[in-house]
Amino acid sequence: MVRTCAVAAAAAAASAVAQSSTTSAEFPFPTEGLPTYNGTGPTMLRFGCHQLVIDRIDPLISPGQVPSHHQHQVVGGDAFNASMPLSDISALSACTTCSYSDDFSNYWTSNLYFKARNGTYKRVRQIPNSPDFFTKDPFVAATNGGITVYYVSPGAGQVTSFPPGFRMFFGDAMLRSMPQSPWDLSTQSCFRCFTGPNFEGDLLRPCLDPAVDSMTLPNRPCYGIRSNILFPTCWDGEKLDSPDHKSHVAYPVEGPHIFDGIDTAEECPPSHPAKIPQIMLEIIWDTTPFNDANDWPEDGSQPFVLSTGDPTGYSQHADYVFGWRGSALQVGLDAGCVAASCPGMAVQTLEQAAQCTVPELVDENYDGWLEKLPGDPWQPPVTTASSAAPTSTGKGKGKGCKPLIL
Ligand SMILES: *[C@@H]1O[C@H](CO)[C@@H](O)[C@H](O)[C@H]1NC(C)=O
Ligand SMILES: *[C@@H]1O[C@H](CO)[C@@H](O)[C@H](O)[C@H]1NC(C)=O
Ligand SMILES: *[C@@H]1O[C@H](CO)[C@@H](O)[C@H](O)[C@H]1NC(C)=O
Repeated sequence: MVRTCAVAAAAAAASAVAQSSTTSAEFPFPTEGLPTYNGTGPTMLRFGCHQLVIDRIDPLISPGQVPSHHQHQVVGGDAFNASMPLSDISALSACTTCSYSDDFSNYWTSNLYFKARNGTYKRVRQIPNSPDFFTKDPFVAATNGGITVYYVSPGAGQVTSFPPGFRMFFGDAMLRSMPQSPWDLSTQSCFRCFTGPNFEGDLLRPCLDPAVDSMTLPNRPCYGIRSNILFPTCWDGEKLDSPDHKSHVAYPVEGPHIFDGIDTAEECPPSHPAKIPQIMLEIIWDTTPFNDANDWPEDGSQPFVLSTGDPTGYSQHADYVFGWRGSALQVGLDAGCVAASCPGMAVQTLEQAAQCTVPELVDENYDGWLEKLPGDPWQPPVTTASSAAPTSTGKGKGKGCKPLIL
């Protein structure tokens, strides 16, 4: 199935119109226009992973450094460590926190903290995702913190799974302003502000509803905030990693692909010809205990900070180390299936997955009211220059259509 970004964006807009006439929420976006995932077409895996550990290490950006600059929340296989070899980590893992039990990959992001008016910080806990999605998945709706992971493939043989040792990174932990890019990266990293209990306001595709999505942390109280972070969908086809952990992957010629649950890339650039599955991470932060207006900043700003120390949200980032066993991921990508139960893919129970943990390497308190964020992370100097808006919307073909090396 070939579908341009412009068409996909138009479909999303059409869905928005269709959806606005209904009142019941369908998660995580309208199913109208989506395939039935009946074995003949696209795959959209969507599965839960419990928290594996919260720790201040980062095997990609600062391998071997204990502690690292800022804190992360991590899910996946128990080979996670301060440094990780460029080899098959599934062979080094004994367990995983994910419901697909052959997925020993690791996925990690920053944490979210609330900063009270008196200057102290409290970690924002994560809550499970909505069960109300195609097949009702009890795992994703009951995880202990953690991340909901998505993989999209347009159809059998259309994307290639990753080789053992592959890893990649999205974002920039030092970013405090709009990223300078030919693309609109707001479709690739955003925060969704729920407008009421039970994921209210979750009507449209991730990062595509300006009423509830923003690239910055929401400037108003929300009934929970959802982070969505998407990885690029083209790869040079060779390198397991690169010095910046980004330049071996790239966006398609037409721009970063929105999350549509169907396609991943129309055309990959010659430098990065291999189409890879679109991976999206989803994290739900329970901000409801922190909605007392009396404890919000008096200057009208919002009170949440990422564990990078960033109050803007622009530093939202994600790390991926591939660790599926054997061909297990390719089997799923080619199965034309949806969510957490796909033909040929092994699963485990919530209880089994919850038994998988790794010890914290950095012994520091991160719960309760803290005077400083874990590690009191160094902040980049505030600059007023170079915060220009992107020149392309990235949602369609047109201006700035050149391969972007992240
Ligand atoms: C499966 O879904 C595709 C659309 O993705 C549709 O064209 C096809 O007819 C369906 N096949 C069956 C057997 O339902
Ligand atoms: C993490 O790495 C250290 C140092 O190489 C090693 O001693 C330890 O066993 C590793 N832990 C895990 C869980 O693999
Ligand atoms: C700071 O504010 C929080 C939230 O109101 C409160 O729970 C905490 O006790 C306060 N800490 C101090 C040291 O005043």
